[in-house]
Amino acid sequence: MELFANAKINLTLDILRKREDGYHDLQMVMQSVTLADELTVTPAKGAQGEAVSDLHFLPTGGKNLAQMAAAAFRQAAGTGGEVDVSIRKHIPVCAGLAGGSADAAAVLVAMNELSGAGLSPEELARIGERVGSDVPFCVAGGTALAEGRGERLTPLPPLPPCHIVICKPPFSISTPQLFSRVNVRRIVRRPDTAGMTAALEAGDLAGVARRMYNVFEDVLEPRRLAAIREIEGVLIDCGALGASMSGSGPSVFGVFHSERQAQEAKARLEESWRDVFLCGPR
Ligand code: C5P
Repeated sequence: MELFANAKINLTLDILRKREDGYHDLQMVMQSVTLADELTVTPAKGAQGEAVSDLHFLPTGGKNLAQMAAAAFRQAAGTGGEVDVSIRKHIPVCAGLAGGSADAAAVLVAMNELSGAGLSPEELARIGERVGSDVPFCVAGGTALAEGRGERLTPLPPLPPCHIVICKPPFSISTPQLFSRVNVRRIVRRPDTAGMTAALEAGDLAGVARRMYNVFEDVLEPRRLAAIREIEGVLIDCGALGASMSGSGPSVFGVFHSERQAQEAKARLEESWRDVFLCGPR
């Protein structure tokens, strides 16, 4: 079975509180995009299934999120044999775009289909929760408000048609480390989540773009923040209606009304950065 695993961006990301279990309660408006990995999921050739990708440095075996998802599915559904998963990566890794979670979600969807287990998307999301906080959203896709650890989802009206340019600078930011730098009481600027959902309901692209904001930008190390601001600056200069960092970064995205301006922004960014993508909402 062949399928796509779509990346996500955060139109907003807010951190509400630190929890007893070490996680944080979040409030995020998430959007899936057409940038996607390609997966092939087949019944395993050997006794044990394996997940491989065209990126040699990705973990294989039990540490690979796709393989963890396969094991979680078998355990929860009590069905579904061993599977081999082959992944062609297009989503940059450790980028704040939920690439690993998207692959895990696609494996759950594929195993549900291949095994005939017939689980609902909600049931798949509950299985995905154990693999990673972003997996439930990746199962559902589209546009949604994600709360709790990220697993409590409320569907939202779709992002109006637009062009999205994503640029990933060549460094990675550890998600747990970034969370540990956040002092929730010291967050001074927060996204207007209610305003964002209202703008989506009104189909107001400019209103959405104006309200994009990610509280993690406030706790970045100065040299990382400088790179993020530089990319945001190029996107805005080229006509983006808004620009922000996605997830725990370092990917930055800009939302454009005009395809020509989005292409211009991509070309400008490619003069300085290697990983630049032009995509749309999904
Ligand atoms: O759930 P996931 O494995 O993707 O999370 C990675 C890490 O990010 C967690 O171990 C935790 O440190 C942090 N995290 C958090 N609060 C969340 C999601 C993730 O503190 N809601």
